[in-house]
Amino acid sequence: MFLHFSSYFGNLFKISLFRFEKISHMKALVLKEKHQALEYKDVETPSPKEEEVLVDIKAAALNHRDVWITKGLYPGLKFPCILGSDGAGLLDGKAVIINPSSNWGNNPSFQNKDYKILGLPDDGTFAEKVCVPRNKVYPKPEHLSMEEAAALPLAGLTAYRALFSRGKVKQKDKVLINGVGGGVALFACQFAIATGADVYVTSSQASKIEKAIELGAKGGANYTSPDWVEQFQKNIGGFDLIIDSAGGGGFNNLVKLANFGGRIVLYGATRGIITELNPRIVFWKQLSILGSTMGNDEEFKDMLDFVDLYQMRPVIDEIFDIQDGNVAFEKMDKGLQFGKLVLRIDN
Ligand SMILES: NC(=O)c1ccc[n+]([C@@H]2O[C@H](COP(=O)([O-])OP(=O)(O)OC[C@H]3O[C@@H](n4cnc5c(N)ncnc54)[C@H](OP(=O)(O)O)[C@@H]3O)[C@@H](O)[C@H]2O)c1
Repeated sequence: MFLHFSSYFGNLFKISLFRFEKISHMKALVLKEKHQALEYKDVETPSPKEEEVLVDIKAAALNHRDVWITKGLYPGLKFPCILGSDGAGLLDGKAVIINPSSNWGNNPSFQNKDYKILGLPDDGTFAEKVCVPRNKVYPKPEHLSMEEAAALPLAGLTAYRALFSRGKVKQKDKVLINGVGGGVALFACQFAIATGADVYVTSSQASKIEKAIELGAKGGANYTSPDWVEQFQKNIGGFDLIIDSAGGGGFNNLVKLANFGGRIVLYGATRGIITELNPRIVFWKQLSILGSTMGNDEEFKDMLDFVDLYQMRPVIDEIFDIQDGNVAFEKMDKGLQFGKLVLRIDN
């Protein structure tokens, strides 16, 4: 009887403790529905599950993926959601960077079916805190600021795999980076220059070509001008390796510009379906057209080591306070940036 009595009061106590337990909150940029502005608001702080940790985010960065999601142009949409694949911050007082790539699986050549990227389906880094698997957290490269480190993960990883694992870039290769204003493209440009390749770029804006030349590119052409392919053919000849995220009708130009035995690595479809691809050129020139997506954990580690070895710094176009996230999204949507758009989080 006594036992029953005490457990009754014990349970009451537990219930009241539970009821008054303070739910902690954090600020986050929340996407409530597609085609809506993001809302900077209080949400419940996530609780790490087993094998997860809660990182205090200090800086996060945008990728075009985030823009596609706000437009409803990405598979597996879920609302409300906190976007953001890129982040750097603090874990147990130590500066860390997050690998946004999960469930790659055992085959380094391609990802598992349940592969996922931080920021959809799981809530991402545009928040004061994020839950991530413990093994996705790496020490921040020491020479980088929090903002520079946040700019690196998704785009750096994608560029690294596209250029090295898939494109097999070598010293003195003639490399063309198509649309160098893109976040991934600019890392591919920087990595290829560091490798000792002869790097050329295209862009829709002369100012971006000039900035790429300042970084070490040998030249460039504006892909909106009618004779840009002929300009390259006349002045450079062709390319051993071409890195592209546009696809679309312009892809055939890249096939024209590839050297015999050339490789074209494609990691995006910004301009949609590839039309008018001439198969004769593909087989006659013995071309390899290679798809590439994100990268495995080993490539993430290799990418960090590469950045460390060459003391490379991501190019940052602009840093915004997280409250002004919508302005950053607008800038990326218009393609105005050269380098990464970073959100600073003061928590
Ligand atoms: N497969 C993957 O793992 C993976 C990973 C990351 C990104 N992506 C995809 O890759 C694409 C780029 O992503 P991001 O985050 O780097 O985007 P971003 O920073 O917004 O860059 C987009 C860039 O694409 C270039 N572009 C637009 N139209 C072009 C055309 N007709 N020809 C050549 N270049 C053109 C523009 O370069 P200029 O400004 O120089 O004109 C623009 O700045 C997106 O479609 C994204 O979804 C895929």
